[in-house]
Amino acid sequence: MKPVKVGLLGLGTVGCGTINVLTRNGDEIARRAGRGIEVVAASARDIQRPRDCRLEGIRLTTDPFDVVNDPEVGIVVELIGGTSPARELALAAIAQGKHVVTANKALIALHGNEIFAEAQKRGVMVAFEAAVAGGIPIIKAIREGLAGNRILWLAGIINGTGNFILTEMRDKGREFDDVLAEAQRLGYAEADPTFDVEGIDAAHKLTILASIAFGIPLQFDKVYTEGITRVTREDVAYAAELGYRIKHLGVARQTDQGIELRVHPTLIPHRRLIANVDGVMNAVLVKGDAVGPTLYYGAGAGADPTASAVVADLVDVVRALTSDPENRVPHLAFQADALSDTPVLPMEDVQTAFYLRLRVQDKPGVLADITRIFGDERISLEAVLQREPDEQASEASVILLTHKVREGNMNRAIEAIRQLDTVIAPVVRIRMETLK
Ligand code: NDP
Ligand code: HSE
Repeated sequence: MKPVKVGLLGLGTVGCGTINVLTRNGDEIARRAGRGIEVVAASARDIQRPRDCRLEGIRLTTDPFDVVNDPEVGIVVELIGGTSPARELALAAIAQGKHVVTANKALIALHGNEIFAEAQKRGVMVAFEAAVAGGIPIIKAIREGLAGNRILWLAGIINGTGNFILTEMRDKGREFDDVLAEAQRLGYAEADPTFDVEGIDAAHKLTILASIAFGIPLQFDKVYTEGITRVTREDVAYAAELGYRIKHLGVARQTDQGIELRVHPTLIPHRRLIANVDGVMNAVLVKGDAVGPTLYYGAGAGADPTASAVVADLVDVVRALTSDPENRVPHLAFQADALSDTPVLPMEDVQTAFYLRLRVQDKPGVLADITRIFGDERISLEAVLQREPDEQASEASVILLTHKVREGNMNRAIEAIRQLDTVIAPVVRIRMETLK
């Protein structure tokens, strides 16, 4: 059989990684797919620049629409990133009856509902395994491997750059900006790295995971998002002393009231496997009602690991070329006309435990005032840690761990604490999860 002809939009970290993996493993990939997979056209902004991959035999252009419109191209692989022109390119490919593979989580999280609807009308596939957790086949695992389960919750370290920064800061005492610059050099970071460090990239990925886990439409605007920029070495050290590690987690949970969707730094007991996932590695813990907890681990970013997922999608598309479009695996795991309207909970109604760090005047009655406020908001304490201040010092740090409490009650308590004359710095709060 003739090889399937592919057009590649983008020749950066993932684009070149994809060409390299297709070249290196071409024979095995063809044995799996049933046909060869050949990149015949590709685009980049600067086609003169030397690349980390061999481009012989590939038609190059600076206009990605040339690739989409190329009559020889049957599958378009979008590896540009961002939402425009990625959205227009994907829709143009679909309109021409071409299948699309993408690693672009921003595109899927923000425009996936529209793109999948168009794809379904045209009977084409849009595959996006590389969009979540780099090389880990987490989309396939949830969409197909766990299809018999009701998913109860999932929690993941789903941004490689953020995990790399937190790990290097903790283990080597390195500065935030220095580690971020290294993540950019290594090709892990987004074109705009604030997406990594402010949690936006993780929120894109959580949006996708929640849809395929719970059968809800993609709802990026409902994700509560906090990044890692305010995590200090001081809090990392206190957390360690109390038996916890701080990880940047995406959490999606079904509750009786609705679905929790949140991304934030989180204290996790250090004995949990996921608390020991370091560097650029990602991990996603998924709890199904039948299977129980399952954990998926692997490289969350980088050229080859991401290309592994892109090429797996290409193989899936090639295998499906001859299948009946009505009987393909649905884009969001559930049949498009069977998505549910379960509400996403406002953050005020989410319940978690908390780590709080307070900087207070070292004098009698301070702790009593704080515990009175907690009592008023029905917040119960699990642990209190107070550092003995130096003899001359008039200030002290107090660390408090609470049991689970409604976020709204905690917000009111923190506001009341802030107004105490004896509290001399903003309260630091980090949520905690036991992940049992
Ligand atoms: P790069 O920035 O390395 O590559 C982007 C490519 O797209 C470059 O070739 C660039 O051209 C081209 N490009 C950029 N803007 C435009 C534009 N406006 N019009 C046409 N072409 C353009 O990105 P990555 O390879 O890192 O990421 C690609 C996608 O994969 C993103 O969606 C990203 O989120 C996702 N992803 C990345 C991972 C990673 O580890 N890097 C992991 C998982 C997903 P030129 O080279 O000439 O500048
Ligand atoms: N910038 C992303 C990360 C790439 O660091 O996780 C992988 O999606």
